[in-house]
Formats: sequence, structure tokens, C-alpha cells
Amino acid sequence: MTKELITFDKKNKIFHLHNDQISYLLAVEDGGTLCHLYFGKKVNNYHGELRYPRVDRGFSGNLPGSLDRTFSRDSLPKEYSTAGEMDYHTPAAVVRQKDGSNTLFLTYKDYKIEDGKPDLEGLPHSWVENKDGAETLIVTLEDQKTKLNFELIYTIYRDRPVIVRSVKVKNAGNETVNIEKVASMQIDFVDRDFDSITLPGAHAHERRVDRNHINQGIHVFASHRGTSSHQMNPFLALVDPDTNEFNGDAYGLAFVYSGNHKFEVEKDQFAQTHVNVGINDFNFNWKLPAGNEFQTPEVLMVYSDQGLNKMSQAFHSIIHDRIMRSKYKDQVRPIVVNNWEATYFDFDEEKLKPIVDKAKELGIEMFVLDDGWFGHRDDDNSSLGDWQVYEKKFPQGLDHFADYVHGQGLKFGLWFEPEMISIDSNLYQKHPDYLMHVPGRKPSPSRNQYLLDLGRKEVRDNIFNQMEKILDSGKIDYIKWDMNRHLSDIYQVDLPADQQGEVYHRYVLGLYDLLEKIVDRYPDLLIEGCSGGGGRFDAGMAYYNSQIWASDDSDAIDRLTIQYGTSLVYPQSMMTSHVSVSPNEQNGRITPFKTRGIVAMWGDLGYELDLTKLSESDQKAVAEQVAEYKKIRAVTQYGTFYRLKNAQEGNQCAWETVSPDKNEVVLSTVKVMASAQPYFTKTKLVGLDTNKQYEDQASHQVYGGDELMNLGIYDPVEHGDFMAYRYYFKAIN
Ligand code: DGJ
Repeated sequence: MTKELITFDKKNKIFHLHNDQISYLLAVEDGGTLCHLYFGKKVNNYHGELRYPRVDRGFSGNLPGSLDRTFSRDSLPKEYSTAGEMDYHTPAAVVRQKDGSNTLFLTYKDYKIEDGKPDLEGLPHSWVENKDGAETLIVTLEDQKTKLNFELIYTIYRDRPVIVRSVKVKNAGNETVNIEKVASMQIDFVDRDFDSITLPGAHAHERRVDRNHINQGIHVFASHRGTSSHQMNPFLALVDPDTNEFNGDAYGLAFVYSGNHKFEVEKDQFAQTHVNVGINDFNFNWKLPAGNEFQTPEVLMVYSDQGLNKMSQAFHSIIHDRIMRSKYKDQVRPIVVNNWEATYFDFDEEKLKPIVDKAKELGIEMFVLDDGWFGHRDDDNSSLGDWQVYEKKFPQGLDHFADYVHGQGLKFGLWFEPEMISIDSNLYQKHPDYLMHVPGRKPSPSRNQYLLDLGRKEVRDNIFNQMEKILDSGKIDYIKWDMNRHLSDIYQVDLPADQQGEVYHRYVLGLYDLLEKIVDRYPDLLIEGCSGGGGRFDAGMAYYNSQIWASDDSDAIDRLTIQYGTSLVYPQSMMTSHVSVSPNEQNGRITPFKTRGIVAMWGDLGYELDLTKLSESDQKAVAEQVAEYKKIRAVTQYGTFYRLKNAQEGNQCAWETVSPDKNEVVLSTVKVMASAQPYFTKTKLVGLDTNKQYEDQASHQVYGGDELMNLGIYDPVEHGDFMAYRYYFKAIN
């Protein structure tokens, strides 16, 4: 008999989701109110003593029709708040009804406990390998007047410190309603004083770690750009003020969705912290006729009692093991050369062949043909939407070039930007209405390109059919799926006026539908996501793309903060990182070749430069890096990851990966600025076996695991800025 993961105490009306690591407790309180009791470290048995204290509080009113002034939904920690009821917190849901009101009063109706985890149709979601791996609690709350049912869905995995939440709204009434907001989850904490950690950024400056104390007020971290965005990654952690990488409580929330999102944190008048996560309600209005349902995307909720590293490891593991599906997710990722920064649009088959030849000579495993191979694209002003080969550049066809690349023993990858249309394209000539626009208004260009209205099946089919003609050749091993602008001119021409508030979400559903068709039809394709770098780096995309280009900024020093932030949530194998030229094309910084290699090896290594133009010594360095990376990549891509030092806070960045059996360890350190009188610094390793002896593969020096962890090693003292070091230790006993 496997152990139950969810129990219901009928007498006290308390649900307890628990595994060996965490407990999540909720209770049905007065007036059928679903109350939050606890989320945190595992509690063996809950006896029901911890009840909501009854206090008469001014300006926090009471249950309708009740004379009890000591019970208020405004001060009770809840699982789901709605507009109009006596709860002044930012509501998780707002639903406009036929009479114009938006009041909902949700009360407990019933519950179900199921083995495993339900799939979310049309949405990316975490999954189970077999039903024994998780249990799901579905608590239904009902609004008596409208007969709207809110199913709060909670999954607990047997072996992870993770709760997965989403909400399904069912209209069991007789009238159409409009959902103006529906969060995927809410949680209310009592007696916690939190810092928030978020990952804001910009194009070529993604996912900086930003930590702030949460004071009274409403704090919003969101995107309404139509995608998860460079500007605010769909992630939030709430941590104790003294939580660091290794100690303290950390609650991490990651949204499994690639469109508009909103994380709301409200510290209220009673110092309670109320949190909602869901689709952004900006320009959201979903018409829900009687008998219909609406399923929200999921949120992954991680609890760590040992700081941020443990939180990140839990995210890495669930995203890799239970969100990704690609067959590549467990294979070492190929080393790539990509021609974007090597040639930009200025290439043809003859110019690319020497790069392929050189790549072969240096041990590189895949050639990726980036933007500019289709239509008549010589710059970024034309041809998006025309996915036919540009004959001027490939007079003998794309297959001919693919054969050449394969003939050299390399895999062949190809760039697409399937969501876009250029005015200067055949597609626009034939189907101007495919371009997302508001009738009677001129749409705004961005990079001189426009959005295809992916909410429309006809549009998706057109793009799929074009891609199919290329991919059916069987000569493409990988695609890079790019997206180089955000949404504007939000309108879907085949939807009536009262459904235009659905367009943002329908776009994302359309995108997922198109991706699903590609994944389903071409299971052997390795798909790399991209959106002007890391503009759509989220857990939703991980369901379709097993790797994502982290940033258009390829400078090794800028990448330290970008990759550090990325690692808070996303596994190393999901992040691609390339060595490019120096001075760097984005910021002009000059860095040593070795440093660029070490930083790029943090994720899936590639080269983004013209290999034929490298000096002899740099070519030798590439060959050495490639050979070295082949030895360590199983550990760096899939090992347990630790952040040790953050360059955003000091002069050094250090990170480490350890193989599951603790026999192999890769440590990387970068000292950012040099000093004429440097202080000595040491790096202490973590996560090793204290009973093992580890040999440094370069110096052959042997250390005990405890020595490396307790004494650490001295960081080298060398002249020069931006110096990087990598150590590869192997256990010898
Ligand atoms: C943005 C990507 O991030 C780059 O790597 C490159 O593919 C360009 N788009 C091509 O237009």
C-alpha cells in the first residue's frame, strides 16, 4: 500500500496534503469559507487546534445575515477571494454578471481526491508518469446566485516539495457571465515578514535578481505585453529577510504560462501577506455561456526550508522531469555553431560552407542556420510569413545545404519566426487580414514586423502547412522558434465585439496549439525557444521547447547576472549560451576567450561567430573547449546546481554542479574586476560526499570532500579583468 498524500479530517473539515517534505493545510471555516492554514515543512499529524482567532475588528465586516462580529472574511487567511464580498483584499476572481454586478460569494460545496494529476487540455502542464506519483484534491466552491462553480485544483507529488495549483470555473447557471479576472491561485500568510524576489529585466538584459522588502500595500509584478516578457519573468519568491542561498524559508511561485501574467502581493492592515498569481486581468474578459468552463494555467508552488538553492533545485527538477516532454530532455545537448552573429543576413550557401567545415574540424556537433534563409530576406524588413527557401542564397535548395552539413557529420538546425508577418511578403499580399489589427486603425510595427493572429485556426493552419513542407524533408534536426516583437493592436477579426477581451489569451492558446502540432508530428526535432533572446523564458514554453536562448546579450560578464537570475527557476539544460566575438557586439566589452567559454558552458554551449575568422590560437581554444565540454556536459547540464557567489552583489560569480552520485563536480568562478592589491578570496564547494577523495582533473591534486567544503580553495590571483576558472573534480574512492 502506498502512503496517502491527501487526507480529509471530516470532523474538523480540514484537508492535509503531505509528503515527506511538505504539508499544505486548508480548512472549511464558518460560512463555508475555504481558509488557508499552512504551507511549509512537513507536519506529521495535524490535530486541528490552530483555528482562526475570533476578534471583532472595525471596518472588517462579517458574513451576510450573521450577528457574529468576530468572524470576517477580510481578516481570515483564505484560499480564494472574490470581488464584492466582505473581503477587501485584491480579489483572485472578478466575474461580471447579467445584472451588471460583480459580487461573488463562494462557499464550500464538495471535494474530490484523485490519484495522479489531470491533464490541462490545450495548456502546458506538469504531468505524472504513473498515477501513484501524485494525488490531486479538487475543492469546489460555489456561488449560490449564479451557480458558478470554482474548482480549486491542488496536486501534490509524492517526492517533491511542490504543490501545483490551478482553477477551473464552471458555469452551472442559466446565464452567460464575463470573467474579468481569474487567478490560478491565492495564498494568504499570517505572521510572516517577507522579502520578494523577482526577475525583472529588458531586452538583452533579462532576469536580474531583484530583492525588496514587502511593506504594507499592493505590489504587482506583471507583464501585459502579450508574452511572459523580458521585462518581468513569471516568477516570484517570498523569503524571510535573512534567507540566503543555503538557509531560511523560501516560497517560490512559477507560472506555467507564456502570455500576460500578474503576481499580486498585498501586505494588509493586519500584516498578513495575500498573494494572487494568474493571467493578467489587463484587457481580459472571457465570455462564459451557461454550461461552459474555463481552465486557468497552472502555478508551481515550491517550498524550501534551506534557502534559495534548494528552492531552485526543486524548480529545476519539476520543470525538467515533469514539464518537459521532448526526448532530448535527458540527452546531452549538442554543441552548436549558429551563423547569426557570424554573418547576420549577409550569407549564402558558399559563404556558410567553410563555417560548417571549420565546425567539423573543431568538434562542433550542429550547424544552425539563423534568420535570412527564406522569402527574399536580406534584412529584417521583409518575408516573415513566407517559409520558402531564398533561392538567391540557396540556388540548389535547402535540402542540398542540409545534405552538405550532414555530410560533414553535423546536425542541421533551422530558424523560424512562425508568429510573424512582414508587409513585404507574399503571405500579406494574399491574406492581409491575417495580420493582427484593429479594423479602421493602422497597426504599429516593431522591428518592421507584425503579429499573425494565431487565435485563428486558419492562420495557424497556413503556417503549419508551410513549415510542414520544410520539415517533412526529414533533414532538419532542430528548429529555433523565435519571436521578435510583443503584441499590440489587440483584436481578432472573426470574434464579436463582446469577446475582444479574449484575444490575448486566445493568442497564447493558438501558439500552444501550433507548437503542439509541431511537437506531435516531429517528435525527433530538438526545439529551441527564443524571443529576441530570453523574452519568453518560462515554464509554459518548457512543455514544448527543451531549451531556450537566454539572451541576445552574449557578453560573458553581462551573462553572469542573466544566467544567475535564470538559474533561480530554470534548469541549466534549458538555457543556451554561446561564445561570441570580442569586443562583444552588444556592449563592446573585451573579455578573454577562456572566460567566454567558461560562462557559456554554464548552459548548453554553442558558438555564435565566424569560426573561419578566428586566430589560430582562438581556434585551438575552441577545439579545447569543445573537447572539455564533451567530458563535463552530462554533469553541467543535468547535475544538481548550486549558486555560490553572485556578481550582482560582489566582484565574483561562482556556480557548481554535482552529479547525482556525487562522483563528479564542476566548479566555475569568474572574478570580474582586477585590483592592484587584491584581497585573497576562497571558494567553498557544497553538496559533496565528505567520505570521498576528489581529484582535480587538471592539477591532479587530491582533496577530501570535507576539505573542499570546509576549507575551500583559494581563488587564483592574476592580473586582468574578467578572469574565469573552471575545475573538474572526480571522486577516486
Ligand atoms: C533574435 C534572436 O535572439 C537572435 O539570436 C537571432 O535569431 C535574431 N532574432 C534573428 O532575427
